[in-house]
Amino acid sequence: MEKWLITGANQLLTLQGAGKHPKTGKAMNDLGIIEDGAVAVEKDTIIAVGTRNEVESEARKRWGSWEKVNHWDATGKVIMPGLIDPHTHLVYAGSREDELNMRLNGKTYLEILEAGGGILSTTQRTRAASADELAEQAKARLDRFLKNGVTTVEAKSGYGLSLEHELKQLRVAKRLNEEHPVEIVSTFMGAHAIPKEYQQQPDAYVRLITDEMIPRVVSEHLAEFCDVFCERGVFTVGQSEMILRAAKAAGLIPKIHADEIEPTGGAELAARIGAISADHLLKASDEGIRALAKAKVVAVLLPGTAFFLMAPFADGRKMIDAGVPVALSTDCNPGSSPTESLLLMMNLACFHMKMTPAEVITAVTVNAAHAIGRADRIGSLEPGKQADLVVFDVPNYLHLTYHYGSNDVERVMKKGKWVV
Ligand code: NIG
Ligand code: FE
Repeated sequence: MEKWLITGANQLLTLQGAGKHPKTGKAMNDLGIIEDGAVAVEKDTIIAVGTRNEVESEARKRWGSWEKVNHWDATGKVIMPGLIDPHTHLVYAGSREDELNMRLNGKTYLEILEAGGGILSTTQRTRAASADELAEQAKARLDRFLKNGVTTVEAKSGYGLSLEHELKQLRVAKRLNEEHPVEIVSTFMGAHAIPKEYQQQPDAYVRLITDEMIPRVVSEHLAEFCDVFCERGVFTVGQSEMILRAAKAAGLIPKIHADEIEPTGGAELAARIGAISADHLLKASDEGIRALAKAKVVAVLLPGTAFFLMAPFADGRKMIDAGVPVALSTDCNPGSSPTESLLLMMNLACFHMKMTPAEVITAVTVNAAHAIGRADRIGSLEPGKQADLVVFDVPNYLHLTYHYGSNDVERVMKKGKWVV
């Protein structure tokens, strides 16, 4: 049984209390910092967290001797929970670099989609790809996530848009979860776009999702969550509600791509339906923000998408001040945010959403864990939690959002094993 004692951290950010409620308001600034921090790990679980003296005495009680205990000296570094990305479109084929020139020449994201490009062009390539090809491409993305300190990602389907190909995508995610150190939490997103063959009869596609896809996804245990792209020209609020109610009745937890490009009332729908998260929210209304706060829906904000689509950023500051629990994510996908750098998202959130460095760290740990229903196991460093942690070669956490465009990850531990 592997045992690790890690000592000497300049700052150990514990983010304690993750299992209870997502953090809102001032609590998002409370990182639970321990100076000269130490962690003891046994197998895949944290057994003690505190100052060096506290952890050594706790570990000695449990282990008796230091024999067979591995020691790592983290003097001068910052240690925090492994980062969690609660919104990615991980499994897809190909890339869409050609769309950047189209957008620079004035075409909008939705115009490209309406003309059969965008999500639909990735769907074509994803349908044509074998499961092995999809796994190979997604694995490269997971490798990059891990180098960025990310130890858990949520992954959505939504580039199959048929029963066969949606299942293929979800099975690839399940397989990668078993093969790769990064843990993957799956979301079914058959409602990502209306596929070409259903353009003239969108309601028939909605029925395919509710009557055939959702039951299969549930019976094969391929996802925990169900997401819908609720947007003008994609799925209406009515269609989104129908899909998410069917998903909920079948045992999937609702999530929504809400108010991303145009205000549609997606935030209000998320609150009404009891979604675990509402994502994007660039155009969320004030009533929508109030509704999210009241219903304690986690707002998953995706600054990379605003950056890449050259759109105004979501108002993270306003949401936090209104009492909404905020999480951050890359939205990793080929069309609106081709990146695995959650570290860059942290910078963007400070500089363009007016979130403080501490709020940003809460948003990629505890609150991100809540957005994917995992706060009982990950998102904070506490005895009994899974041993997922990242060591940064920086003297204090402020450097993470100060030294931008760089990657200061030194080591990453996932389930008690060093993986970077
Ligand atoms: O979250 N908005 C819809 N889905 C993705 C983009 C997917 C794509 O363009 O391929 C998003 O932005
Ligand atoms: Fe997305």
